[in-house]
Amino acid sequence: MKKMWTGRTAGELNKIADKFNASIPFDQRLYRQDITGSIMHAEMLAAKGIIPVTAKDHIIEGLEGILEDLESGKMAVDMTAEDVHMFIEGALTERIGDEGKMLHTARSRNDQVALDLRIYVKEEIEELQGLLLDMIDALAEKAEEYKSTVMPGYTHLQRAQPITFGHHLMAYAMMYLRDLDRLKDIYRRTNVSPIGCCALAGTTYPTDRQMEAKGLGFDSVCQNSLDGVSDRDYCVELLSALSILMMHFSRLAEEVVLWSSWEFKFVELSDSFTTGSSIMPQKKNPDMAELARGKTGRVYGDLISLLTVLKGIPLAYNKDMQEDKEPVFDAVDTAKICLQVFAPMIREMKANEENMMHAAQKGFINATDLADYLTKKGMPFREAYKITGTIVSDCIHNGDVLEKLPLEKYKEYSDMFEEDLYDAIDLIHCVQRRNSEGGTSVESVENQIAYVKAAIQKEMEE
Ligand code: ARG
Repeated sequence: MKKMWTGRTAGELNKIADKFNASIPFDQRLYRQDITGSIMHAEMLAAKGIIPVTAKDHIIEGLEGILEDLESGKMAVDMTAEDVHMFIEGALTERIGDEGKMLHTARSRNDQVALDLRIYVKEEIEELQGLLLDMIDALAEKAEEYKSTVMPGYTHLQRAQPITFGHHLMAYAMMYLRDLDRLKDIYRRTNVSPIGCCALAGTTYPTDRQMEAKGLGFDSVCQNSLDGVSDRDYCVELLSALSILMMHFSRLAEEVVLWSSWEFKFVELSDSFTTGSSIMPQKKNPDMAELARGKTGRVYGDLISLLTVLKGIPLAYNKDMQEDKEPVFDAVDTAKICLQVFAPMIREMKANEENMMHAAQKGFINATDLADYLTKKGMPFREAYKITGTIVSDCIHNGDVLEKLPLEKYKEYSDMFEEDLYDAIDLIHCVQRRNSEGGTSVESVENQIAYVKAAIQKEMEE
């Protein structure tokens, strides 16, 4: 495609320089946003008397035709074009003739690309929010199913205190709920229109930026034209939020990997979300979880790439900024596919309740409760802690567990022990007694589920 900027130069770009300069291989995916922006731009230009109404009608008709043909596959993207903006404008002029050349009045590719990217980010945030809601819903549903399933809770990956599997799953629901909230916040700052900032300084034409912004569904317009064409904060924010989201994925993924190992055997993933080994017939690998854990790295990389591209570049537009798009696309695509895979994988995941209980019984995770038992009978906690520690140590030595140690044995450590101690260290009771707000009791987990469901409901209504 012949360069539209021929004039100052002859436009004969060295072949490899031309390839180096082009963004069409990756920005072609912005064609719809570009056409949407251009249609509104033509509307505004005609409304302000900057271009004739007839020209506007032809421009819009031409753009709508291009969109239709691209969407149906009737028309292919011209890969010799420099970028998506040049491609669409060139295709328009080819279709409708010289009137097509009026479209780029009071506009620059600098505000045009800024607009396209904002429209794209807004749309993707909305999609991500929908997927996040589904992920949170999947976790809440699973938590409901396993709200009274006892498992060991861990610190330092050492069995610590009994919790329910439902409680554990709800911890992730809370993380994803914060991710959702972050996206909502970012949407607000993305929803500001840069169109009309032009190359960098605004324009001498009597444009109406407010009209263009409103027509495109933006809340307001950027207040400084230099900032409007240079600002990619919303992309950095999006990639930060997606990095945090992926960090959450990597933690859940790691637990799914551990839980489905033979060593833990806490969960069984469905066949549709596991793979086999080409040589080891016994294998059922949690590839999806491992991949999500691995893909976290690339999203962090996308964030760092973008921050580094933007670092230290002077105002306003610089070609460096063409490098903003690939990290943004990659991070969005990656986060979306992880959400799409994980929600059904979690829904189909089955807990091995027996093994969870078994692991809970073996780890002395009710030792805190035994100490609390003595404390509640009047013994200072430090002393109770010490006695319990000695009992645990003796049990380990003799191969005993707290639940099975006879009362006479307990009495040897302290005469405060009575028959009711067995009730105090019963795992189900240990869980049920942790009824503080946010605790692991069944009632508390039910409250957490209700909280999350109400938040989902509220989001759906908005
Ligand atoms: N392809 C360019 C980009 O993605 C569009 C803006 C080009 N502007 C310019 N003045 N060369 O950043």
